[in-house]
Amino acid sequence: MSTAISPTAYNYKVVRQFAIMTVVWGILGMGLGVYIASQLVWPQLNLDLPWTSFGRLRPLHTNLVIFAFGGCALFATSYYVVQRTCQTRLISDSLAAFTFWGWQAVIVGALITLPLGYTTTKEYAELEWPIAILLAIVWVTYGVVFFGTIVKRKTKHIYVGNWFYGAFIVVTAMLHIVNHASLPVSLFKSYSAYSGATDAMIQWWYGHNAVGFFLTTGFLGMMYYFVPKQAERPIYSYRLSIVHFWALITLYIWAGPHHLHYTALPDWAQSLGMAMSIILLAPSWGGMINGMMTLSGAWHKLRTDPILRFLVVSLAFYGMSTFEGPMMAIKTVNSLSHYTDWTVGHVHAGALGWVAMISIGALYHMIPKVYGREQMHSIGLINAHFWLATIGTVLYISSMWVNGITQGLMWRAINDDGTLTYSFVEALQASHPGYIVRALGGAFFASGMLLMAYNVYRTVRASKPAEAEAAAQIAVVGAH
Ligand code: HEM
Ligand code: HEM
Repeated sequence: MSTAISPTAYNYKVVRQFAIMTVVWGILGMGLGVYIASQLVWPQLNLDLPWTSFGRLRPLHTNLVIFAFGGCALFATSYYVVQRTCQTRLISDSLAAFTFWGWQAVIVGALITLPLGYTTTKEYAELEWPIAILLAIVWVTYGVVFFGTIVKRKTKHIYVGNWFYGAFIVVTAMLHIVNHASLPVSLFKSYSAYSGATDAMIQWWYGHNAVGFFLTTGFLGMMYYFVPKQAERPIYSYRLSIVHFWALITLYIWAGPHHLHYTALPDWAQSLGMAMSIILLAPSWGGMINGMMTLSGAWHKLRTDPILRFLVVSLAFYGMSTFEGPMMAIKTVNSLSHYTDWTVGHVHAGALGWVAMISIGALYHMIPKVYGREQMHSIGLINAHFWLATIGTVLYISSMWVNGITQGLMWRAINDDGTLTYSFVEALQASHPGYIVRALGGAFFASGMLLMAYNVYRTVRASKPAEAEAAAQIAVVGAH
């Protein structure tokens, strides 16, 4: 822990930019989530136009929430954490600025092309080749800024949070580049370099590790910094964090085939994917326990600190979704859950409960710091946001459990003569109440984001740029 005064300050500008855009894209992406959820209740909302149809808006929702909201949260926090834990400024301001503007350009590209129907058709990798290339360039630059900063660090150790952020950056680059190998036939159409079952396997190697590295490992980096910081306690076990890191990254990469059970993928590959997914429970829970136990002796803080509540509840949802996932990876369970709303519920237990809640908690901790304020404008509003987010998530996932199991059971029911007991439409009708509850839960969650926007606006408005710069200077003096 250095106490020498450094002549330099941290680069908080890029952190502020990404932090604000996290809120903006969060509102847009989740607002769109509520809209497509409502389309499933009231199909008239498709407006009979191709651009506003569910089929085109759904991938826009996933791209906005994962890459725009989640991505900006990861950029903002990783740039903040790497500077503070390495006690040095980012290696290059201009490269960091390029990652900000380049990333926004990728998102605007998605906003324009996906509603127009330009898509590779690969889930979570829909963006056509010119945008995919820009994304790759921005990502490699991100790697240069992040690892370059680690190289010039003033501390001896590389804090464990940076290990997680680092693995997320490296593996995301690898997945994106390999899965996007394709042959362009025009400016906005390309065909995958792979075919058949190989194409499916590579796509779900990408898809699952997008979950594992983008939606999990990066956010674990966030967890390892912001939970101890907000709890004002050291991480429960540094040794466990190292075991957690190596076990997680070694195992995740094998689990992709659980997305392809009962398909043309060779049976041994499906079974391997299943086995690896079950083992994955151990490191996932190791990480959760490490985060939770950090609160030992500080549990009382939960009574008064809604930011800590966001962080801890996100860990509870992380534990829940990483228990549910391995269960769903068991082939017999998957034969019931696959294609049903159970999968969608599992996704949002992870996405809303874990990814969004840890990001929101981290932002509430970080935004006052990078704007030179003591704390957010209103703690009461953070508390209201916490309840809206928690109730919204619970409504979303419980309605999808009911829907998923109902659908799975209705689809597989057969009469004595071997005919289907229920038509597809009957299962759809049975799902209608669940869709209403899900849309309501989504609306709760999204309205919490509006409270956040107002709170952030008031915090930023009250900040004085000079104070923020002074905070950046002083921070170099202190501990991370
Ligand atoms: C207000 C919050 C949200 C609402 C109302 C919402 C709603 C929806 C809806 C209706 C779908 C389509 C489900 C279907 O096809 O049957 C969907 C899909 C999806 N959403 Fe959300 N969403 C929200 C937030 C998020 C967030 C924050 C993330 C990620 C961080 C996310 C990630 C996804 C993913 C990955 C899918 C695809 C699921 C799959 O293919 O199984 N969503 N969402
Ligand atoms: C140990 C951890 C986990 C395991 C073993 C796991 C396993 C699974 C399984 C078996 C499916 C269903 C595949 C299918 O039937 O199509 C699935 C879907 C999914 N999971 Fe998980 N899961 C885990 C954690 C998570 C977390 C933490 C998140 C989010 C942050 C997440 C996001 C998703 C998404 C987005 C899908 C839907 C993919 C799609 O079909 O579009 N998972 N997961």
